[in-house]
Amino acid sequence: MDNNRIKIFDTTLRDGEQIPGGRLDAESKLLIAEHLEELGVDVIEAGFPISSPGDFESVRQISKLIKKSTVCALSRAVEKDIDAAAKAIEKAAHPRIHTGIGTSDQHVFTKIQTTRENIVEIVRRSVSYAKKYVEDIEFYAEDAGRTENVFLAQVLEVAIASGATVVNIPDSTGYCLPEEYGAKIKYLKENVRNIEKATISTHCHNDLGLATANSIAGVQNGARQVECTINGIGERAGNTSLEEVVMIIKKHRGQLNYNTGIVSEKLHLISDLVSSTMGMIVQPNKAIVGSNAFAHSSGIHQDGVIKNRDNYEIIDPKEVGVGQSLIVLTARSGRAALKYRLNKLDINPAKDDLEEVYKMFLDLADKKDIIEDSDLKKLASVLV
Ligand code: KIV
Ligand code: ZN
Repeated sequence: MDNNRIKIFDTTLRDGEQIPGGRLDAESKLLIAEHLEELGVDVIEAGFPISSPGDFESVRQISKLIKKSTVCALSRAVEKDIDAAAKAIEKAAHPRIHTGIGTSDQHVFTKIQTTRENIVEIVRRSVSYAKKYVEDIEFYAEDAGRTENVFLAQVLEVAIASGATVVNIPDSTGYCLPEEYGAKIKYLKENVRNIEKATISTHCHNDLGLATANSIAGVQNGARQVECTINGIGERAGNTSLEEVVMIIKKHRGQLNYNTGIVSEKLHLISDLVSSTMGMIVQPNKAIVGSNAFAHSSGIHQDGVIKNRDNYEIIDPKEVGVGQSLIVLTARSGRAALKYRLNKLDINPAKDDLEEVYKMFLDLADKKDIIEDSDLKKLASVLV
């Protein structure tokens, strides 16, 4: 396989759905899974089957429906969870069990209240147990971001020796700095003796707004799978945003030289689908999929974009499935934008007339946030 190919592991239906108030019904989950497969994601984390009968059932249905992507089910490192995960994905064309346990001192000593030795033993037993069901086992070391690297390497070595094919390094609390997270991945690549038998995965949370930067740092240091969600949804401040990672890799192809299997033209559609089915509005200034991501409203920018789109746009909106960029008329807009929008309505004022409309436009724009086509038609009607 191409060593620069970055696998996209989508966890919208599992970690993403943990967002308060964002519960999805089974029908919506199936629809989203279908769209994720068409989008080209490599792995769909469909749910956490032991958590509820409803989640078990939707993982089971998604497993039957999806043919190309791997379908993954989450479990804790306990047998009853692993049994439920294995049962839920038994019909999947490409099944994966994702199992793991906390490894930071914080988790080992205060959450699980055990010893490091016991953690290593649990890892050995749980991964070997899951391996009886399926070949493809992903192991997560929860709170790896705050786990001491020497111990983390020891745990991963045991997980891989017990059969893990992917090792997930979650920055579960979104604590790491990009350099720190990147250095952690590099350390693991260099110090886990059997690391060549597994793929390293990033799983970053956005508590400090660094999830995307950390994921990219992970990739630059050897990770070949990125875990992420549509619109960056998830618990607290959310997870790494799929669309951001995909477009960073695409736009920096020359510099970074990585690729994904994602059909970027479908990003906007799936963003809308996730937002509407979950009832979670996407913030307007959200990168790639926010409603303002391709809207220009200040005079200086509008003038630049009208002369040449590349002056202020690094992404062609069509690349992510948006029809076109918008020239929005506000009190900060200039003559170039006004003329552009009038011309679109087939109104072509002479220079002096444009000046006259522009004055009226500014008076109106000081009272009204956005000037619409209907307002422009009224303003221009004084010219005839
Ligand atoms: O953030 C995290 O640590 C997780 C694991 C369960 C993979 O979501
Ligand atoms: Zn997570």
